[in-house]
Amino acid sequence: ELNTFEFFWKYRDYYLKGIQFTLLISALGVFFGFILGLVLALMRMSGISILKFLSTAYIEVFRGTPMLVQLFIIHYSLPAFDIKFTPIQSGILTLSLNSAAYLAEIFRAGIQGVDRGQLEAARSLGMSRVAAMRHIVLPQAFKAVLPAIGNEFIVIIKESSIVSFIGVFDLMYQSQILRGSTFAPLNPLLVAAIIYFILTFTLSKLMGVLERRLSASDHR
Ligand code: ARG
Repeated sequence: ELNTFEFFWKYRDYYLKGIQFTLLISALGVFFGFILGLVLALMRMSGISILKFLSTAYIEVFRGTPMLVQLFIIHYSLPAFDIKFTPIQSGILTLSLNSAAYLAEIFRAGIQGVDRGQLEAARSLGMSRVAAMRHIVLPQAFKAVLPAIGNEFIVIIKESSIVSFIGVFDLMYQSQILRGSTFAPLNPLLVAAIIYFILTFTLSKLMGVLERRLSASDHR
């Protein structure tokens, strides 16, 4: 009988491969989600009713339906309309589209949280609306929502495990392979759980360090 560490060591190649896929699709998912989320937040606050409507509808639909269903529609339904993706592409696309909806609301809260006076002062100094937004409001908003963005990354690392359903070789998939080939009831999954925990815990500590650094520059 192998103990949990011996099990991990014997099958480390599987887990290391899995970690790579999990981190790759999660990082790209949050990266593209960040860009789309920012666009959605700005659309929603634009005051242009059609943009507002489209953005709000998008956010409600993606937050109001399970990500697993979204993944399956993208991977199994779109091919019926000749839109085909590899499992990795479908995984990254789903995580990006889903995360964008959550990030959009995070950004909106952050932007609305910046004192109106900041925008007004920038405008009165002759900055255009876009320049004031870009150089004055967004940097402050970004700093305020950093913890929430870190949190979203952590959520996505965990939720990315659903891509194992469509055959992405992520951490969850590897643990299922090992469960099926070794018949061990606990170790394959326990090792996966421990690795997910190490990833999210490390990230949460790193975010803490980053936040302290950024807030230090507020108190000079
Ligand atoms: N399991 C939930 C769902 O399927 C979580 C989605 C969370 N997504 C996020 N980007 N925070 O809807």
